[in-house]
Amino acid sequence: MSGSEQTPTPTTPAAPPAAEGAPPPPRPEPPEAAGEQASPGAAPAPADTPTPLPLPTPAEAYERYEEAFGGVQAPFAFLDLDAVWSNAADMLRRAKGKPIRIASKSIRSRAVLDRLLALDRGFQGVLSFTLPETLWLWEQGHRDIVLAYPTADGPGITRLARITAEHPEEAPAVMVDSVEHLDLIEESASSFVAPIRVAIEIDLSWWPLGGVVKIGPKRSPVRSAEQAAALAREIERRQRVRLVGLMAYEGQIAGVGDDVPGKPIGNRMVRAMQAASARDVAERRGEVVSAVSAVAELEFVNGGGTGSVERTAEDWAVTEIAAGSGFYAPVLFDHFQAFTLVPAAMFALPVVRKPEPGTATVLGGGYVASGVGAKQRPPVPHLPDGLRLDPYEGAGETQTPLLGSAAERLGLGDRVYFRHAKAGELCERFDSLHLVAGTTIRDRVPTYRGEGRAFL
Ligand SMILES: Cc1ncc(COP(=O)(O)O)c(C=O)c1O
Repeated sequence: MSGSEQTPTPTTPAAPPAAEGAPPPPRPEPPEAAGEQASPGAAPAPADTPTPLPLPTPAEAYERYEEAFGGVQAPFAFLDLDAVWSNAADMLRRAKGKPIRIASKSIRSRAVLDRLLALDRGFQGVLSFTLPETLWLWEQGHRDIVLAYPTADGPGITRLARITAEHPEEAPAVMVDSVEHLDLIEESASSFVAPIRVAIEIDLSWWPLGGVVKIGPKRSPVRSAEQAAALAREIERRQRVRLVGLMAYEGQIAGVGDDVPGKPIGNRMVRAMQAASARDVAERRGEVVSAVSAVAELEFVNGGGTGSVERTAEDWAVTEIAAGSGFYAPVLFDHFQAFTLVPAAMFALPVVRKPEPGTATVLGGGYVASGVGAKQRPPVPHLPDGLRLDPYEGAGETQTPLLGSAAERLGLGDRVYFRHAKAGELCERFDSLHLVAGTTIRDRVPTYRGEGRAFL
């Protein structure tokens, strides 16, 4: 487990070090050959270095992608590696040496996870999102896994118990927030030999006005140092569970943009909310860590997300930051004052009809992201510049009409490059990701879906 004893070095612009621990898992064959590409299984090339990059202009990015994907039939999805490495460098800078655990829900490709973990010692471990995913990653050779969301998967826990029996110090840790979670784990850990490694999730949503107003994700019933210490003592009392960590995620800071164009008042309100919430977060997280540390020795305290890396890094109580979206830079992370990411994950759709001269209709496109309200969740036509969704049709199941100045110039077969509102969900729509550096497709790697896995 990554813990406070491991001190990451700052970004190393040289060739990436080999991933520590397990060897990289075998990479399955990509579903189809496509375009110019490096051989599958090729080691990450020297360009895999976290290198800051100025934001390319839309025209530069479009020209580059057109050159790279000239021979590739859309629809397809891809990662702009130059942008990924640039975003990685920016997150390492913001983390100021605190390790970043990679949120796999925002990546959803093992091959990409491997590349990111091999990139720099500042990236350590995986924050997984379901127990079947966690067990699968383990079987594929991944180590240092923390499951960020509680599970009610009894058979999965039984499998985890077997792994824990063989690897009592290394097995994945799972999140709990209640006695019910402990009961379920203990019931399912039938092959008990070593206690299942658990972490307590602390709720960091902000409750001003004595709780009349509640801002932030509702994640856990455990909010105070007293509650956390009580649950920690209960874990210590039991034989089949062992407390190894804490997780406390400030979603109302890490996931809410404070610099949205055309929303000066909203931005001011968000900043005021985040500043006040940050004081509460710092105070409560510190108190919880002190109280729980008096009960059990913690290997890690995880906090933060892409939008809060620099803030969370300053919290003494946090030993590691979680982040994932920051690599792919989806639309929902475009408007934060503290950082600017380079769009890195995209999908291309072909123009298949022109119902009228000012409209170019592409195939598919309705890959709407999860979350509240539909308004900010559809994908955005990114390139060529000057396209927008039709407000009456949006992004459709089988076709998406696009309006705007660029629509006139687009013809049948032309590619339109879209960005998803969120990071990993894009991978549920595509079997593979092309990895492009400069104007070269360097590789094509499977998504979770491409490996036949759909966890959520
Ligand atoms: C527990 C936890 N940590 C961190 C994050 C941040 O992930 P990302 O950096 O992809 O926004 C999330 C996102 O929902 C989360 O649930």
